[in-house]
Amino acid sequence: MTNDVRLRAVQTGDLPIFFTQQLDPEATRMAAFPSRSHGAFMAHWTKLMAETNGAIIRTILFQGQAAGNIGCWEQDGERKVGYWLGREFWGRGIASAALSLLLREVKVRPLHARVVKHNIASIRVLQKCGFTISGEDKFPDADGAESEEFILTLVARDSVPKSSTAGH
Ligand SMILES: CC(C)(COP(=O)(O)OP(=O)(O)OC[C@H]1O[C@@H](n2cnc3c(N)ncnc32)[C@H](O)[C@@H]1OP(=O)(O)O)[C@@H](O)C(=O)NCCC(=O)NCCS
Repeated sequence: MTNDVRLRAVQTGDLPIFFTQQLDPEATRMAAFPSRSHGAFMAHWTKLMAETNGAIIRTILFQGQAAGNIGCWEQDGERKVGYWLGREFWGRGIASAALSLLLREVKVRPLHARVVKHNIASIRVLQKCGFTISGEDKFPDADGAESEEFILTLVARDSVPKSSTAGH
């Protein structure tokens, strides 16, 4: 049940779980994001947890278990969101519930996300939480080939023109 989803601050005991989750080849293919070595992973998460750059990173708990992580950070002058779940937790509405909880905590708008075009599940998670496709771009994937991505944006409610919300 998705009402069993909660967010809490990341604890160091969560890191081995997140490390294993980001090694999953199906997840890295889905996200078109390569896994990190243990050293690179720990360096990245030590920085994130210091929250010196205003990053807000949370552990997603499902029925009390660490199902994955979700966060919001500043990059290239934009506030971005991202999330990652262990495969055994996919397809139960957990990411959608976690993102809507994060959006209650993080009030800043606009928020942006970049998603490789084949990641239908992630695009759907964002759309269910009010993000819309605002552009597209290309990026080099782990093999050096060019991949295409959508940019999705969540704007402040009062900046959405009335005509675009009518009937929804
Ligand atoms: C993407 C990811 C976060 C989705 O998490 P999730 O908890 O399974 O998502 P939800 O259950 O909330 O599902 C959201 C929507 O996507 C749909 N969906 C889920 N998996 C899908 C799939 N493999 N293909 C197509 N649609 C899918 C669901 O049906 C749901 O839509 P609906 O409510 O209209 O039915 C998860 O698969 C994941 O962590 N993947 C690896 C990392 C990743 O891709 N991160 C995002 C990088 S941008």
